[in-house]
Amino acid sequence: MMLLQEISKPLKIGHTRTCDCRPKHINCLTAKEWMQSQIAIWEFYYEKRDIRDKNVHPAVFPISLPTKCIKLFTHQGELVIDPFVGSGTTLVAAQDLGRNAVGFDLKAEYVDHANSRVLSNENGSSQLAIHDEAKNIHDYFDDETVSLCVTSPPYANLLNRKRKNKSKRGDLREDEHFLKVQQYSKDPRDLGTMEVNEYADTLGDIFKGILPILKPRGHCVINITDYWWEGKRVPIHIDVVEALQKVGYELRNTIIWDRRNIVNKVGIFGWPSNYITLTTTFEYLLHFWKPD
Ligand SMILES: C[S@@+](CC[C@H](N)C(=O)[O-])C[C@H]1O[C@@H](n2cnc3c(N)ncnc32)[C@H](O)[C@@H]1O
Repeated sequence: MMLLQEISKPLKIGHTRTCDCRPKHINCLTAKEWMQSQIAIWEFYYEKRDIRDKNVHPAVFPISLPTKCIKLFTHQGELVIDPFVGSGTTLVAAQDLGRNAVGFDLKAEYVDHANSRVLSNENGSSQLAIHDEAKNIHDYFDDETVSLCVTSPPYANLLNRKRKNKSKRGDLREDEHFLKVQQYSKDPRDLGTMEVNEYADTLGDIFKGILPILKPRGHCVINITDYWWEGKRVPIHIDVVEALQKVGYELRNTIIWDRRNIVNKVGIFGWPSNYITLTTTFEYLLHFWKPD
């Protein structure tokens, strides 16, 4: 891990295009690739390199998710940040695509792991995970240098309870994670310890700090899901949209991450008296930008 004292602020990291795309183009995609991205329902598959071991990190998104966002909203050589980088998935995607990227996480263990995944670097771009809280991100960058912020914050205190594995059937339910609490940390700055109202205020403050370092019309994609808590639905994506709008972001698109390819071996919930949709079948990708 790079020690905090070795890190100069602002960071010396590239943020300008190294491609020869036309100035007005927002990405390096071909017209055909662009068309395929216009459908607002996206599906992803995990690959071998993805971290599927919940003991390494309890909640990772697949590499293909930040890959798609990076391809859509940046050019080669530009700068991507992930304020909640966890196992470093966004850094891996950025390295594949020749984008510079910096991730932040509260937990040193995740930061070490993230850095270990981006050691080899053959295309001249740089990727780095930093052990610091997301609230301090602004200190690391000059204003208007970041092209994209792509991230999956904790889903408020969703993980702060015993895992009941309700989406698994029979014998599969009582696996090694059954009845364990798998929150990221007990650090009070960890968004995963917060009730929804405090969570939304804190997230708003974090993104307020990020706004000045985004380029004008710089993009921000937040992966979030609504969930059930004590028998009630928590529509947390609404709180996230409101929190970001309040601090100056403009919502551009609501994209659905269709996760039906990941859901398997589920039980029959609610039948025959209470209709309940499975939380795991989709998540939101909320796309904002910094208005001109
Ligand atoms: C959903 S996980 C991100 C997983 C990541 N997308 C991946 O693929 O590995 C959320 C991360 O946010 C971190 N976190 C929580 N509160 C934080 C804060 N205030 N500042 C920085 N990181 C924080 C947690 O430690 C956790 O690793």
